[in-house]
Amino acid sequence: MRHSTIRQLEVFEAIARLNSFTRAAEELFLTQPTVSMQIKKLTDDIGLPLFEQIGKKIYLTDAGKELYQTCQSIFEHFSRFEMIVSDMKGLKSGKLRLAVVTTAKYFTPRLLGMFCQKYSGIDVALKVTNRERVLERLTNNQDDLYILGQVPEGIDAVAEIFLDNQLVVLAAADHPLVNHKNISIDRICDELFIMREPGSGTRMATERFFSERNKKLKVRMELGSNEAIKQAIVGHLGIAVISSHTLALDAPMGQLAVLDVEGFPIERHWYFAYPSGKKLSIVAQTFLDYLRQAHHSLGDLSCRHAITGHCPLLINGTGIKSGG
Ligand code: PGA
Repeated sequence: MRHSTIRQLEVFEAIARLNSFTRAAEELFLTQPTVSMQIKKLTDDIGLPLFEQIGKKIYLTDAGKELYQTCQSIFEHFSRFEMIVSDMKGLKSGKLRLAVVTTAKYFTPRLLGMFCQKYSGIDVALKVTNRERVLERLTNNQDDLYILGQVPEGIDAVAEIFLDNQLVVLAAADHPLVNHKNISIDRICDELFIMREPGSGTRMATERFFSERNKKLKVRMELGSNEAIKQAIVGHLGIAVISSHTLALDAPMGQLAVLDVEGFPIERHWYFAYPSGKKLSIVAQTFLDYLRQAHHSLGDLSCRHAITGHCPLLINGTGIKSGG
């Protein structure tokens, strides 16, 4: 085993993570025969098979699973060591692994842009997926930090608010309820709704809002993306509850309107989180400090109307203006 090289472990880790020899070879810029050769040497050293192939799929054997966990901890320690060294040299460098819920993709890249400008030696790996998957990753300690719209429940994690998140009711700009004031919840429940997929935090908050008021929504369809929902609204398929962060400048021009509904916007927040007891890497700690310090400028990342407007708003190509 001591003859195995870091390179072999890297190759093994990539195959186990990507579930594919071909994709691992691509990621590591190696040929497939080289990858197979490295795994053969590693398997010979260990003396037990690491993968088994059933049909076209590969699976980790028990020894493979143990080695995968060992690799993850070796690489984590190694990258922490590299960061400590670069910190000693006065440089901030290394990798920041972030996993964020789908809706956070509307502001996270800009936030990262500002961060990376300040710390040019830091590389970022950003995973965007829905709340359920982000919680899974958090439980498995797969990343450095997580951004999500609600404190993880039933998971031992540290969570801190860093930004507001308002959920609004969005309709087509020519919807008959546009410009109505304080539309009642009973009236809005007569409309057909477009919902995010199960596992989405937006969906969870919407369902909770209506069920707390003993109301049932008429759901016409479920869609797994905020962009698809906006297009469906423009196509008059229904209305939806959606984060105001999704109303970025590229929102369908002048074709959407925020309805003034009793109890809306739903006031939520964005949290960063990580498992309790996790020793944050220097890079992750630097990013957290940056988020906390940058709190004021972070306000600019949310749509202006989200903070100021409660009346119906029309969205045009250059931003958001009052439609009242
Ligand atoms: P979602 O999460 O993108 O999974 O809907 C957003 C949220 O939790 O607010």
